[in-house]
Amino acid sequence: MENTHNFILPKTNLIGIGAIKDLPNELLAWKLSKVLIVTDKNIISLGFVENVEKILKNLFISYDIFDGISHPNPTVSFVEDGLTYFKKGLNIFKRNYKLVISIGGGTNHDCAKAIATVATNGGSIIDYEGYNKVTKPAIPQIAINTTAGSAAELSMYAIIGDNSRKVKMTIGSPYLTPYISVNDPIFMTTMPKEVTASSGIDVVSHAIEAFVSTEASPITDSLALEAIKLAFEYLPRAYENGNDLEAREKMMFASIMAGMAFNNAGLGYVHCMAHQLGGFYHQTHGDYTAALLPYVFEFNSVSIPEQKIMQLCEAMGTVTHNRSHAVDLIIDLIKNLNSRIEIPSRLREMGLDEGDIETLSQNALKDICSFTNPRQGFIDDFIDMFKAAY
Ligand SMILES: [Fe+2]
Repeated sequence: MENTHNFILPKTNLIGIGAIKDLPNELLAWKLSKVLIVTDKNIISLGFVENVEKILKNLFISYDIFDGISHPNPTVSFVEDGLTYFKKGLNIFKRNYKLVISIGGGTNHDCAKAIATVATNGGSIIDYEGYNKVTKPAIPQIAINTTAGSAAELSMYAIIGDNSRKVKMTIGSPYLTPYISVNDPIFMTTMPKEVTASSGIDVVSHAIEAFVSTEASPITDSLALEAIKLAFEYLPRAYENGNDLEAREKMMFASIMAGMAFNNAGLGYVHCMAHQLGGFYHQTHGDYTAALLPYVFEFNSVSIPEQKIMQLCEAMGTVTHNRSHAVDLIIDLIKNLNSRIEIPSRLREMGLDEGDIETLSQNALKDICSFTNPRQGFIDDFIDMFKAAY
């Protein structure tokens, strides 16, 4: 019986305090090339783009900056604006971009992936919704990360909102994997408290969903468990004091490990449902996952092997020998972590209108993250879970 576990990641991952210093070596191969930087004005004002500009100038690499991403929910319109900028550079200024560098959090990396993909594959990003619809390599991308959460800097997925249909599309293809990822905690100390909380709890939801996924392997399991252990210990600290570099560094590792796990094991219903909420309303993605996680875990728990339930409990810092007690403990521990980092606990506090639940449930059922959820549900199950978290 076939049982394969391919493992996909960027070619090189620069990781740790000061990791950005290794970027020039990686860029040598692009000397005299043209680069498109994809970022937003806030990241520019924090001085992060200037750091990269200096590196590019020293290597005689010319660049342009697209900074048209203006809020934390990536949309088709940002991608189209980016492509217009790309084509203008190409046709008017003869900029034959050979590399895209995204600087920021998941939104900027995902928009850059989408721009780099459409630039070589043609059409519109909407054409590539789903898994493995992309047929040609995207323009190589270097993703310099400033948050600890989405893992978009190393994943093969882009999540892009299509406002015309009020859905968040998942576009998944190995061709979307950035060529190089950079995770330097120095870039993360300026993350505001609410971003630390939201992106940090997203790490927990990635790790739990990857751990219980139908595509999990011993490799993704060990990464996911360690990510959970680190996040439960260090997320409250990173939230309390953003300048706690040790806590930032540990959360960076947790984010990378959870990202490596879900990139290869897949996700589940928390993400199916959170993606739909992101298509309708404007709370940050991590907050939706935080509110949904206890109820989706409860739904899934009957399909998760006992050994995994116990391992999860232990990774969260508690030991019990009773399965149903362990399930209750895990749910309480997740809720407790959410409240320690002051994430609203109910979806109604995040804008959910009860009248939208049926449409959201229908859309969630179609999301590609549903394929790897450990228990297959029906529309009524989604409605029940949305209502439980409401
Ligand atoms: Fe997520």
